[in-house]
Amino acid sequence: MSARILDGKAIAREIRGELAEEVRQLKAHGVTPGLGVLLVGDHPASRSYVTAKEKASAEIGILSRETHLPASASVKEILSAVDAFNRAEDIHGILVQLPLPDSSMERDVLQALNPDKDVDGFHPVNVGKMVLGLPTFWPCTPHGILQMLKRSGIPVAGLHVLVMGRSNIVGRPLSILLSMKHALGNATVTVCHTGSRDLCRLARESDIIIVATGSPHTLTADMARPGAVVIDVGVNRVEDPTHPRGYRLIGDADYEDLLPRVAAITPVPGGVGPMTIAMLLHNTVQAARNQNRPKLER
Ligand code: GUN
Repeated sequence: MSARILDGKAIAREIRGELAEEVRQLKAHGVTPGLGVLLVGDHPASRSYVTAKEKASAEIGILSRETHLPASASVKEILSAVDAFNRAEDIHGILVQLPLPDSSMERDVLQALNPDKDVDGFHPVNVGKMVLGLPTFWPCTPHGILQMLKRSGIPVAGLHVLVMGRSNIVGRPLSILLSMKHALGNATVTVCHTGSRDLCRLARESDIIIVATGSPHTLTADMARPGAVVIDVGVNRVEDPTHPRGYRLIGDADYEDLLPRVAAITPVPGGVGPMTIAMLLHNTVQAARNQNRPKLER
């Protein structure tokens, strides 16, 4: 039997349709959600993510404004670009595309964001609120995964979920959100990482395996039990001279080998990626609403 393919593109389209209606309503009250995008350097993958986020924003009526700085930009220049977005009244959400060319700057740059505009949910104040279950912006990839599972009719409550990877952007917040008691959570969660022993055993004991390690072939077919659900967060470029671009994208899981074994799996591309973008739009609409409460209640 072949796995059900979880179509992130289709689910994200559905969410964008719902958000387009919300944007129409906000505009009827004189509010146009605005997203400030900060890209530092010319990393090809980051450039293409940012372009996709800007295009998706425009399609549902969100205004986006990009600041593009050279890879050589100083921390002062980056902080000044963040500050300009913090002050801009027509910008409700700010996206600083990561990684920055100098990743040691990330902590200071993320802390400089106005937490009310931090639509990635990366500011320490918002991470703290998320952990405590207070209203805040949930990071886009973890929230996208929770929405994808819910909208695919795969409730995680009570299941054993293995999160492979502990990054600040995906693995750690996802493991927290999955374990919390709310409509999209209440799972039993194990987090594994480069220091974990016996990955095979952990994976075989899991109902849902979410791979977010950034390395191809992290999850091989022998590791998943028949009937498991696999969510692949990885986007890795591998050289492929037969492809027009000279490369193709693969995930962190061995998709072709897992397909006949598992119950459901996300493709790469077309799985988690579009969901991340949809949840960024969701958070931006929410930020615009939060910042215009008096106007909207009139
Ligand atoms: N880099 C990889 N994923 C993300 C994300 O969700 N947000 C930002 N800002 N940068 C990223």
